[in-house]
Order: sequence, then C-alpha cells, then structure tokens
Amino acid sequence: MTPERLSFIKGMEKAGRLAAETLKYAESLIRIGISTNEIDQAVLDFILTRGAKAGPLGYHGYPKATCTSVNDVICHGLPNEYKLKNGDIINVDVTPVLEGFFGDTSGTFFVGDVSEKAKDITDCAKNAMLEGIKVITPQGTTGDIGFAINKYVTRRGYATVKEIGGHGIGRKFHDDPFVPSFGKKGKGDRLKPYTCITVEPMVNENDKPLKEFAIPDSSIMYYSTADGTLSAQFEHTILITDTGYEILTQI
Ligand code: MF3
Ligand code: CO
Ligand code: CO
Repeated sequence: MTPERLSFIKGMEKAGRLAAETLKYAESLIRIGISTNEIDQAVLDFILTRGAKAGPLGYHGYPKATCTSVNDVICHGLPNEYKLKNGDIINVDVTPVLEGFFGDTSGTFFVGDVSEKAKDITDCAKNAMLEGIKVITPQGTTGDIGFAINKYVTRRGYATVKEIGGHGIGRKFHDDPFVPSFGKKGKGDRLKPYTCITVEPMVNENDKPLKEFAIPDSSIMYYSTADGTLSAQFEHTILITDTGYEILTQI
C-alpha cells in the first residue's frame, strides 16, 4: 500500500462519513411546512460547521448547496420557496467536500403520510441501489452494476433513467467512469481497485422521455418525469478494494 493510496482511502472514508452524517441531518429536518430553501440553508450550515464545503455550490454555476428533488423531479431539483406538504416524497442529495475529497450520497424521504405507490417506488429505488452495489467486484465492470439495477427495477414494474447515472468520484466531483443504471454484464468500463464510484439509480414509474429544465446561469439542468408521475433515487459513494468494495457513505 503506497502512502498516496492510503491517504486517498483515508480521505475518501472521512468525506464519506461526513456525507452520511449530513444526509442523516437533512433527513431530520424533513417535516410538513419546511421549504426546500430552509433545508438547503441548514445543510450548508452543518457542512461548514464541520470544516467542509458544499460540492454543488458554484459547481458549473449551480447556485445551491444541495439538490432537493420533490415528487416528479428526477434529480438536481433546485431548492426554492416550495414548502413540503403531506404526501410528498423528497430526495435530498448532499456532497460535502472535506480536505479536497468529495462524498456524495442521497436518499428519498417521506413527508407525513404518503401513498402506497410512493412507498413502493422509494423501496424499489433503495433496493435497486443495493442490488447494484452487491455485484461490484474488482474484476467487474460498470455494466455488471447497470444490469443488476435494471433487472431489479424492471421486475418490479418500474423504469430506470438511462441518461443520468453514477460516476467516478474522488478529488473530483464527477469523473470517469459513467455508472449506468442499465447495461450488460461484462460490458462498460472495468472497475479499478482503490478508486471510488457512486451508484445512484433513478427510478421512474414509466419510461416516457424526461423533461429537462435549465437552471439560470448554470450549465446544470434539472429533470422531471414527462407526466408528473413519481421518481425516486438513492445514492452511495463506494470504494472498490482489491477484494470487493466498501460503502463509504453509510453510518
Ligand atoms: N450530487 C449530484 C450527483 O449525484 C450532482 C449534483 S451536481 C449539482 O452526481 F450541480 F446539481 F449540484
Ligand atoms: Co453522484
Ligand atoms: Co449526489
């Protein structure tokens, strides 16, 4: 183990742990009547208090510290004055940067009492992420992950988002490889020991084309479903080791 590799691992473990704590904190804020701006501000304060920065803030002009994707918003939802109401589901995506290392994680949470459909698609997204993570091996490829995710989601009668997915991560927010939520076993990029990736499937009720929305003064787009149906997502940052993997954003 070279000193460089060891410091990369330690750095990513610390950033991952902070990301997990940040997401737990975000979850604790979820209640009827809180605005997504209030969640964003509180999460930013939490991250700054821990001596870290918020990865999204200023990233390609993105103006907020978190992404808050409510109901039919698939990802990159921009925090605003919208107040959460009973029955909403919300994905909060947090990416603290600690000592130069990015930890990226998200979860979908319930606001009050949600529909059976909302519970089911959220459960599907969480398990889809775990299915994708389970098949990671140091000999494997990104296609193995995508295949496992898509198989699980399709069997449950939902659709994965193909255009957006996971990514390499480390001292950069988004790096190679692209980690799709569909694919073929053994295809795609080879996974490399002692690098990190995210697994972050987005699950929709159907496979209709996404709607894209511009974010002012930013090259980041946000996305919603075509017809207002629900979308759910979970994300972990993973370290690939020489024997398997380690989930860095779990506490
Ligand atoms: N955290 C998101 C991801 O999982 C990326 C957000 S980029 C932003 O990759 F600019 F929208 F914040
Ligand atoms: Co990510
Ligand atoms: Co993320």
